[in-house]
Amino acid sequence: MSSERSWLLAGNWKMHHGPAATAAYFNAFLRLTPPHPSRELLLFPPTLALPAAAQASSARSDVAIGVQNLHWESQGAFTGEVSAHMAREAGARWALVGHSERRHLFGESDEETRLKLEAAAEAGLHPVLCVGETIAERRAGEAEAVVRRQLTAALAGGRPSTRLAVAYEPVWAIGTGETATPDDAAQMHRAIAAELRRLLGEARVPVLYGGSVKPDNARELLQRPEIDGVLVGGASLDPASFAEICKAVP
Ligand code: PGA
Repeated sequence: MSSERSWLLAGNWKMHHGPAATAAYFNAFLRLTPPHPSRELLLFPPTLALPAAAQASSARSDVAIGVQNLHWESQGAFTGEVSAHMAREAGARWALVGHSERRHLFGESDEETRLKLEAAAEAGLHPVLCVGETIAERRAGEAEAVVRRQLTAALAGGRPSTRLAVAYEPVWAIGTGETATPDDAAQMHRAIAAELRRLLGEARVPVLYGGSVKPDNARELLQRPEIDGVLVGGASLDPASFAEICKAVP
């Protein structure tokens, strides 16, 4: 297949793997996953494990570490929070913003997502902006409108000065074993690409798919021209399983 395409393969560990488990993971995963010219690997460990992840991957320019969440202020009286600058100092180069668990379990608004995206970019982190509809929104025929609203709100400040990626993660497919069909995902990815062109102009933004990506469905998703990579939750927790997914780049 085309050697010009490049894929982003991202693992979001959520609240799994502390510093010791992170070091052991990288030891196994990096041996199973040698550098490859058409893929970039992103790992999002828990915040406390960022230094361990950054240290374990320091010899690999194809591997970058990201933070799962951050506060938009750079410092202050915000007990329990971590700023983008702190995450960067601890080794993060990317930041997830707007993940559906942040939106739905922790009540984060479109406006807070925008603030986080801008704070990430201001600190030099590359945001991965997550968008996606709930099952009720899909059944009501509102999936594309919801995703367009999330994109418009988060990018109201214009194109970030850093790299940007978008992850389409239908909420009903996250951790459920349900995956959007490659056709449904591709259709939404086309809608997202069109909206990103409208909001930001022509420069291409990679759009990843997330939601129950597994070793046995990754290849079919990654073969689609509209799908520039995957954001993997559950199946990224085991190094062998995530390594299999990374091998699925066409
Ligand atoms: P999942 O999670 O792969 O376990 O469905 C994806 C995500 O939440 O990023």
